[in-house]
Amino acid sequence: MIKGKFITIDGVEGAGKSTHIKFICDYFNKKGINLLLTREPGGTDIGEKIRELLLNPEIKTIDNDTELLLMFAARNEHLKNKILPALNRGEWVLSDRFVDASYAYQGGGRGISDSRIDILSNWTLKDFCPDLTLLLDIPATESIKRVSAKNKDRIELEQIYFFENVRAHYIKRAKQFPDRIKLIDSTKSIEQTKKNIKNILSNYVF
Ligand code: TMP
Repeated sequence: MIKGKFITIDGVEGAGKSTHIKFICDYFNKKGINLLLTREPGGTDIGEKIRELLLNPEIKTIDNDTELLLMFAARNEHLKNKILPALNRGEWVLSDRFVDASYAYQGGGRGISDSRIDILSNWTLKDFCPDLTLLLDIPATESIKRVSAKNKDRIELEQIYFFENVRAHYIKRAKQFPDRIKLIDSTKSIEQTKKNIKNILSNYVF
């Protein structure tokens, strides 16, 4: 029996997830709700090892299906050994990225069809899905500018058209699931974006 709520935050690189995650945690803390913060790929011992493999810029060749399968292997571990137990204890969970990222990056970016990703999603998640997803949106040109040129991970090294396709796929998902995924214009100032997030959270939670 799931009692807690599961919130996810997603978007292309440089969209401001880190800044706004802090804000969201503070927002909930003030309401007396302690959020368990976690991330994908990662969040468990095995998941973090898989993350190291997936993001290692020295690994030049990885088949698109392998990349997708590793994302879902990490997610399976994350769901069963961290997210579900926490929700069942009545805790609230905030995940920095979740399944929408696979549709956006491996679907939009790498060109794997949604129907193939659905197979893995049905296998690992069944009918589980976030209660709310905050999707921070910026154009790909802005994303490239905001990510530091130094120390890019394997995925950050992709070209602009990759991020254009990722973004387009995120927007497509937001249109497909408008009740769950809230698209937030993250080109606005940090203060304005915080206000927009607060409005969504206040309508949703209290
Ligand atoms: P980040 O957490 O620092 O944003 O880095 C995670 C990277 O992994 C980011 O480039 C998005 C990518 N990613 C996928 O390609 N597919 C996924 O399913 C997930 C969760 C992340």
